[in-house]
Amino acid sequence: MKTLIVYTSVHHQNTEKVAKVMAEELEADHIHTGNAQPETLATYDLIGFGSGIYFGKHHKTLLQFVETLPPMTQKRAFVFSTSGDGKIKHHAALKEKLVTRGFAIVDEFCCKGWDTVGPLKLFGGINKGKPDEKDLAAARAFAHGLKNKV
Ligand SMILES: Cc1cc2nc3c(=O)[nH]c(=O)nc-3n(C[C@H](O)[C@H](O)[C@H](O)COP(=O)(O)O)c2cc1C
Repeated sequence: MKTLIVYTSVHHQNTEKVAKVMAEELEADHIHTGNAQPETLATYDLIGFGSGIYFGKHHKTLLQFVETLPPMTQKRAFVFSTSGDGKIKHHAALKEKLVTRGFAIVDEFCCKGWDTVGPLKLFGGINKGKPDEKDLAAARAFAHGLKNKV
């Protein structure tokens, strides 16, 4: 199963930590969204899409990248994020776009990430140190579990 992870991580590189652990576990390639082209996906069976959450959705560079993709067949996807509240509900917009393009979504993962947006930075932000070792272990276990789902 050839796997690629496409990710955007701009606030504190929180999501990049998760992406790298997943890539290691899956022996996957990983690429920042800014360096990916639609054709980049061609030779992969499973593609992970992840970023921090910005105003309730994945980062716009990732959402816009998915919008540029042609219709897919036989491609599976998983979705992941880090965010201030660590909630999975923020995945809805990205998942809808992926399904519209023909991806079958096999699973999703989220965890909290250090967040210093707006006034939060005045007192060091929330979730300092996250994703931490426990979060990264959970991300690794998630990636391991994907091997049995596809
Ligand atoms: C401009 C901005 C908007 C954000 N909006 C949300 C949000 O709507 N919900 C949330 O839970 N976290 C929000 N966050 C927190 C980020 O999702 C969190 O810090 C994430 O881990 C950043 O990931 P990154 O370092 O990989 O970019 C926001 C952060 C920034 C800078």
